[in-house]
Amino acid sequence: MNILFVGDVVGSPGRDMVKEYVPRLKEKYRPHITIINGENAAGGKGITEKIYRGFLEVGAQAVTLGNHTWDNRDIFEFIDDAKYMVRPANFPEDNPGKGIVYLKMNQDEIAIISLQGRTFMQPNNCPFRKADELIEEASKRTPIIFVDFHAEATSEKLAMGWYLDGRVTAVVGTHTHVQTADNRILPQGTAYISDVGMTGPYDGILGMDREIVIRRFLSNLPARFEVPDTDKTQLGAVHIELDKKTGKAKKIDRILINDDHPFFS
Ligand SMILES: [Fe+2]
Repeated sequence: MNILFVGDVVGSPGRDMVKEYVPRLKEKYRPHITIINGENAAGGKGITEKIYRGFLEVGAQAVTLGNHTWDNRDIFEFIDDAKYMVRPANFPEDNPGKGIVYLKMNQDEIAIISLQGRTFMQPNNCPFRKADELIEEASKRTPIIFVDFHAEATSEKLAMGWYLDGRVTAVVGTHTHVQTADNRILPQGTAYISDVGMTGPYDGILGMDREIVIRRFLSNLPARFEVPDTDKTQLGAVHIELDKKTGKAKKIDRILINDDHPFFS
């Protein structure tokens, strides 16, 4: 069994990349499950129902979120009905939406969990203890458990990878938008990468207009970040192979598509 996971989709340039390349990646890798992190998909912050449905139409089975989950008011109207939307599970208990989603594929089932880090981010419930709780619940149903850990600090992401090694199929990091080269299978069989990398403008800064970001560093004055209107784009993703009986990962490959790393089918 295999999983394709696409990293943080940023604005319309990111959505265009999803439309263009997810079908091609699906043809190449033939994943059983495709998951997209869509927390930056609407103008860089949050997601709308239309975008969520568009991701499902292009072939994703689930959409994960992160710290921008609530940035579009629209979300409150549809998150409770969005069966395949996963927001960080360690948000306050009575928040709308859910932090774990189960997907059925023939005889098999996969649990998809979203968690958010706390280092240099908003205070939330402990992601490690929340992971314990959800894994205990999920492993009664399936050994195939996928975790999107949306976090800022590499140390916290690595800590989560090692903490969950052998208990989940994969811990993939999102949020920092730059793909890291540390993809590996940890000793007890968990696939790990600190960050999958983002899907969006290639010549921006983390997907945002670089001039605005540079100006902010120079001036310290508040500035509204914007997604540049560009067709120079990239896609960051990972492809994971696993043993469906044990839920252990066998392989995790990085996928990076941009002008410097063209896609070959
Ligand atoms: Fe984020």
